[in-house]
Amino acid sequence: MSLSYHDIQRLRDFYKHCIECQHQMLGYPNASDYDYQNLWSFLQFSINNIGDWAEQPHYPMNTFEFEKDVIEYFCRLYHSSLDEAWGYVTNGGTEGNMYGCYLAREIFPEGIVYFTKDTHYSVMKTIRFLNIEYCMIPSDTRGEMDYDALELALESNPDKSPIIFANIGTTMFGAIDDLKQIQSRLAKVGLSRNQYYIHADAACHGMILPYVDNPPPFSFKDGVDSISVSGHKMIGSPIPCGVVLALKKHTDKVSHEIEYIAGSDKTLTGSRNGITPLFLWQFIRGTSELEKKQRVQDCLQLAEHTAQRLNQHGITAWRHLNSNVVVFPKPSEELWRKYYLAVANDMAHIIIAGQTVANPNRLNQVIEELIREKTRKTTPEAVTDELVMA
Ligand SMILES: Cc1ncc(COP(=O)(O)O)c(C=O)c1O
Repeated sequence: MSLSYHDIQRLRDFYKHCIECQHQMLGYPNASDYDYQNLWSFLQFSINNIGDWAEQPHYPMNTFEFEKDVIEYFCRLYHSSLDEAWGYVTNGGTEGNMYGCYLAREIFPEGIVYFTKDTHYSVMKTIRFLNIEYCMIPSDTRGEMDYDALELALESNPDKSPIIFANIGTTMFGAIDDLKQIQSRLAKVGLSRNQYYIHADAACHGMILPYVDNPPPFSFKDGVDSISVSGHKMIGSPIPCGVVLALKKHTDKVSHEIEYIAGSDKTLTGSRNGITPLFLWQFIRGTSELEKKQRVQDCLQLAEHTAQRLNQHGITAWRHLNSNVVVFPKPSEELWRKYYLAVANDMAHIIIAGQTVANPNRLNQVIEELIREKTRKTTPEAVTDELVMA
């Protein structure tokens, strides 16, 4: 196999582009402060994690033993164990969310998925794929579920089992739906524990909450049936990935013996990425729990500091407690495009991940530009004076 000069040049250009962008995307939660070079040699193998890591695999080139360690770690993080829960390394948060909804649909084929207007957009794809009924619940201005509205919606659908898709950190605002409130509203309309299903979408904050003091309810001990987290967000991975965990009593329901792979299958896809479990495994094994906690705390502290700096200069910025998402009014298009800020309606956000803590230069630049833009808008004369003097 040989590439033409032109094609080699295209790859070189793309490499240059990646180097330039690598740590620049301030609006996205993807950590890039990793070094997995020691794992590069595995890219020469056709590693495939088809099937269930808990079984004796027929296809020999897999990373099941590493995947098992990863799942065990997340079980611990989410207050469960391999006796009670099962899970696998997914292609990302979306697949994990779809898996949770799939399990719920198998249990409650006539169920309704409840989620808020701030839930990640991919939930609608899941709804369409699985052909489930849904009900979108309003949320407050900071992205948290309106529990009164949930209760009303539950009351108007008394014959259909609720499948709650709870946000454990919304994409735009980092808002966390209160599981205690949700459960109390479910109880209020007369539902007992086995009459509903709760899936937790913890794409980004699933790697934050286990490392904060007094986290809000988000895990199995708080009554979730399944939980999904992205691996390429707060951990960081060159290939998108994630982890989904669910109670074994649910995953057993979708398990089928497949002769071709000489094992049982209960994942969403057939062939599965066998490299990504290695990245997650290396992160888990290569850093102590104290270091993981420190990394999270550093991100939260810098997020708070960022919000305060913006506020000091008249930009209304805020963040939820335990969130690395700093929200503020949408700046000019030129600015949000330049710094890859995420925007929705009239709001924008910066997300603090590991690389920004390691090197805050880019963050400082955007803060300065945001402040300059704000000053220019509020006191055009002062800026004109400055320009004249310059
Ligand atoms: C809250 C939330 N859920 C789900 C997703 C989808 O995750 P992924 O991109 O890993 O599929 C995201 C991604 O931004 C997210 O923020």
